[in-house]
Amino acid sequence: MDLSKRTNTPKGKPNTAMLIWIIVAGLAIILGGLLISTLTPYVLPRQGSAEAVQVDDLFRFMLAIGGMIFLLVQGVLLYSAVRFRAKPDDLSDGPPIHGNTTLELVWTIIPSIVVLVLAIYSYQVWVNTRAILPNEQAIDVVGQRFAWSFNYTATTEDLPAGVTLASLDEVVQADFADGGNVSFTSNQLHTWVNQPVRVSLTTPDVNHAFWIPDMRIKQDLLAGRVTDIRFTPIEVGVYRIVCAELCGSGHGDMAGTIGNDGTLLGAWVIVHPDEETYLREFYYPELNRVIFPPEDPVELGRQLISAQACNSCHTLPDLGWQGIVGPDLSGISTRIQRLAASGNPTLEDYLHQSIREPGAYLAPGYNNLMPAFTEGQISEDQLNAIIAYLMTQ
Ligand code: CUA
Repeated sequence: MDLSKRTNTPKGKPNTAMLIWIIVAGLAIILGGLLISTLTPYVLPRQGSAEAVQVDDLFRFMLAIGGMIFLLVQGVLLYSAVRFRAKPDDLSDGPPIHGNTTLELVWTIIPSIVVLVLAIYSYQVWVNTRAILPNEQAIDVVGQRFAWSFNYTATTEDLPAGVTLASLDEVVQADFADGGNVSFTSNQLHTWVNQPVRVSLTTPDVNHAFWIPDMRIKQDLLAGRVTDIRFTPIEVGVYRIVCAELCGSGHGDMAGTIGNDGTLLGAWVIVHPDEETYLREFYYPELNRVIFPPEDPVELGRQLISAQACNSCHTLPDLGWQGIVGPDLSGISTRIQRLAASGNPTLEDYLHQSIREPGAYLAPGYNNLMPAFTEGQISEDQLNAIIAYLMTQ
């Protein structure tokens, strides 16, 4: 590239003033890049997990390099626009410029080194944050249109002090028999400080993405596959969970929100100060619902449906639900007019079908979005209790 005709510097003899300018510009670019990388992280959410520091360091490193490249490109662009602009009466063509081997080598080799360094560094962070940790708390997470549910598994070793297997209902005993376990579902993820958590993500419908900004984890849920992701919370608190993959009309509802009365709606991570508090305030009360189910089917159904994440789509005043993606469930037992259209003989059958095969009959004005709940997710007995509760609404 021969720019000599358009500069005042004779070819091959860069003057001292120009050298000083190049050095000053180079320093400005480097310091500017570092400044961008130092200041920008102030807009990031708090670092809630042990892994967050590594992720943020990598981000800051990439930001410094990106910032320098940005300043270099914009600087050269601005300089060229001013320095090499045509005079008002100059209608001639620019000089014909052919290849410049040195320049091409420079702009190939430097980016290659940058990309290689970033690849090695990123891979290292990836491996570190994915490593299997001792004593992981395993939680199965189901993301489906349009809610998250968290399944906790208990073995006989997890029973509260003073509760023996023999003291439990026969049905519950049978679940525990032969190394089996019982599980309960919550629409929130509870854990405690410094406890490594492994979440196993699955989806029965379309792809979603499980994102906890404060924990710096974001992982796609792929249909037909189980994906694990880990984090270790380091601070007591309440952290928002968000779906980061456009999954349909209720996508925005797959995020933790705060209700008008200050209650937590949707999916949140609750980090307790220690395991004892976690067990006392969350785990045992939830487990007790499963191992000591109420006799009254209506009360049992109310408990069961509360643990499901139906609230993000449906409205039900008794439970404080305000969802609008699916039909309003208040007064559901009075919707006689839907019975004939749905082809079911009784209301109970209609509700049963609406949960097992939601697509079989669609309430007028609503799309086929609700996932079918299999017997693996809600047993037939549990479903009957839920229907008994809905019939009272
Ligand atoms: Cu689930 Cu977006």
